[in-house]
Amino acid sequence: MKKIVIAIDGYSSCGKSTTAKLVAAELGYAYIDTGAMYRAVTLYFLQNHISLTNPKEIQKALDNIEISFHYNPKAKRNEVFLNGLNVEDEIRKMYISNNVSEVSVIPEVRKAMVAQQQNMGKKRGVVMDGRDIGTAVFPDAEVKIFMTADVNTRAKRRQQELLEKKQLVNLDEIRENLEKRDKIDSTRTESPLRQAEDAHLLDTSHMVIEEQVEFVLNKTASAM
Ligand code: C5P
Repeated sequence: MKKIVIAIDGYSSCGKSTTAKLVAAELGYAYIDTGAMYRAVTLYFLQNHISLTNPKEIQKALDNIEISFHYNPKAKRNEVFLNGLNVEDEIRKMYISNNVSEVSVIPEVRKAMVAQQQNMGKKRGVVMDGRDIGTAVFPDAEVKIFMTADVNTRAKRRQQELLEKKQLVNLDEIRENLEKRDKIDSTRTESPLRQAEDAHLLDTSHMVIEEQVEFVLNKTASAM
């Protein structure tokens, strides 16, 4: 059967990655969480005190960054590695969420990440989630989904996710972070978050995960 690219874009905490992971498992496809890549870059920039206004310093840092994904059979998930170190848990923390969108607007950062993502998906057979997959990374993706949901629902879902990782975060703080990131992500000059013209809109406010997965699988079946 022909292998395709499924691009899932949308606002923060709409359930993109949970949906993408399950769709990938169902189809035997690779799942690539592009948000994790921007989070890993942010971690590196913070650890190494990289100035976000110095293009030379940024480029040098990017040349020293190697991001890879490895499957952890115990946790049954793909985990992100930064220069050989597992940073999966670290990059999900609030201090990364609070800085990632400022790092993601930088053209040099986007250029480096997009090139890696295009390389990871060049054989197709991938489900990739992010903000610009259907518009910039794979504008020729056979299936494009654009996910949205009410901000309060998203904040509660994110709070639950963090709680499962033993991180207790106030709901207002989470909502503010989601709104701030959505604003920066949607208004940046370089590949802003927007719905591609040929993307299917999926509002998950009143959906359970099984319905979201079914929606994507149905669109995929029609594209095959
Ligand atoms: O998906 P996640 O919420 O982990 O993404 C974290 C941040 O990374 C987003 O808020 C956005 O600033 C950035 N991002 C991006 N382009 C992508 C994926 C994520 O700019 N394709």
